[in-house]
Amino acid sequence: MASSSPLISVTPEWNDLKAHVDEIKNTHLRNLLTDDSRCQSMLLDSDGIVLDYSRQQATLETIQKLFQLAQAASLKDKINRMYGGERINSTENRSVLHIALRASRDAVINSDGENVVPEVWKVLDKIKDFSDRVRNGSWVGATGKPLKDVVAVGIGGSFLGPLFVHTALQTDPEAKESASGRQLRFLANVDPVDVARNITGLNPETTLVVIVSKTFTTAETMLNARTLREWISSALGPSAVAKHMVAVSTNLTLVEKFGIDPNNAFAFWDWVGGRYSVCSAVGVLPLSLQYGFPVIEKFLKGASNIDQHFNSQPFERNIPVLLGLLSVWNVSFLGYPARAILPYCQALEKFAPHIQQVSMESNGKGVSIDGLPLPFETGEIDFGEPGTNGQHSFYQLIHQGRVIPCDFIGVVKSQQPVFLKDEVVSNHDELMSNFFAQPDALAYGKTADQLQKENVSPHLIPHKTFSGNRPSVSLLLPSLNAYNIGQLLAIYEHRIAVEGFIWGINSFDQWGVELGKSLATQVRKQLHASRTKEEPVQGFNFSTTALLTRYLQ
Ligand code: F6P
Repeated sequence: MASSSPLISVTPEWNDLKAHVDEIKNTHLRNLLTDDSRCQSMLLDSDGIVLDYSRQQATLETIQKLFQLAQAASLKDKINRMYGGERINSTENRSVLHIALRASRDAVINSDGENVVPEVWKVLDKIKDFSDRVRNGSWVGATGKPLKDVVAVGIGGSFLGPLFVHTALQTDPEAKESASGRQLRFLANVDPVDVARNITGLNPETTLVVIVSKTFTTAETMLNARTLREWISSALGPSAVAKHMVAVSTNLTLVEKFGIDPNNAFAFWDWVGGRYSVCSAVGVLPLSLQYGFPVIEKFLKGASNIDQHFNSQPFERNIPVLLGLLSVWNVSFLGYPARAILPYCQALEKFAPHIQQVSMESNGKGVSIDGLPLPFETGEIDFGEPGTNGQHSFYQLIHQGRVIPCDFIGVVKSQQPVFLKDEVVSNHDELMSNFFAQPDALAYGKTADQLQKENVSPHLIPHKTFSGNRPSVSLLLPSLNAYNIGQLLAIYEHRIAVEGFIWGINSFDQWGVELGKSLATQVRKQLHASRTKEEPVQGFNFSTTALLTRYLQ
């Protein structure tokens, strides 16, 4: 058995940070924010994106200590090993090369000594050709009609990333124009309600179904795929499947077995993790069908820009590295288990659900990459909603209840500015007023003294006091177009990898999803036996037996 590396928590650098916590806990953000030179050092303007982390409970000394921790965790070496195509996902014996999915055509990125970039571009060229033909009507359905609607069937990583990008692009003027007259829908849940919602209003004659599954074995996706195959063939005859169904998968054998022509299958590779797959055919095919390949190529270029930034910038100027280290600081040292993702941008409404999977499936682990039990918690509980909607929902808890580090994400130029002539500011300025105000409200809070000076009645003072000292980061993007959406995605993907590299875990496997799946198989067999042969429920504990029996009655 290979020898294990020591856990990061036994290093002097980790213990040094532990010892530093008390000092920080005794320092209020109100005071830290008076130091302009500290704030200047914590404001970064790079690749068009502004990151302000001056509202973190951290001094410049904290940041130096975090860099020392990064050194102790061999962060740069781990990043190099990822970019070098080493099999850093050791429990699945795979390399982790989602960066290759958005590399330029002339880049060289090796996996097992072979440059994978030409293969990536072979698939991208095939997507471009196919999506052009569907969009310009030279690929038609079984009855000769152009296919103007697409249903992408997939779940988890084969759904959340593409949904986030689609939602973000919908109102971008360039993307909107190129999507004119077309619809893209996503069928993820095996719940028949989701099927009904997705096919309502669609005509099989003008619909293309894209089955997206890395493994092509995921129970929910395969049942939904069979359901839509039946929907197509009962309306148009079984031979229509060839014209109305295509697939994205790493398992082309199963695609063919399902009845989809391998020529209409779009490959990706086992070095692409499901939750890191939006830049593969998983996202690029459905999104190119909707918006045209040139728009999606810009998205890939934005992600690639951050890949280069992450690999080349020193840690002090490296957005994903800084964000990742600050997350580790908040979770492992300050003891804040959650993180709120708060885009002040409705187009980013599906960003938090996507990041939830990328983050929580990657970093919610209990053992180190070498299999040693961890004496500390990893991963955050991620959640979020666009502002200002969230302000009217869960912000009460964030302001006066638990401390939850927040990510505020804003854009300078709205996709859709509106200015009513009698209003003081435009709708976008109104939205952004809140983006700028909330981080200060969290950081400064409001003291009893201030309230007294405002003549607030004494019995209300405790209720109206805000303790403040609540950390956040602010990310300001120039706008929200395909390119910036790609940048934002890659910032979070790499930030999450940084956290995992520091904690010394494998952020690229997901064994934790298996147990529930195998227990569902047992239940499925029981339901089948009870429904077809009236077999009694057996082999389950008291509670499950009672619930299943009631369900079957
Ligand atoms: O259940 C979790 C998971 O394995 C994810 O990691 C993955 O993104 C999702 O299921 C879908 O898997 P597939 O693309 O193979 O259908």
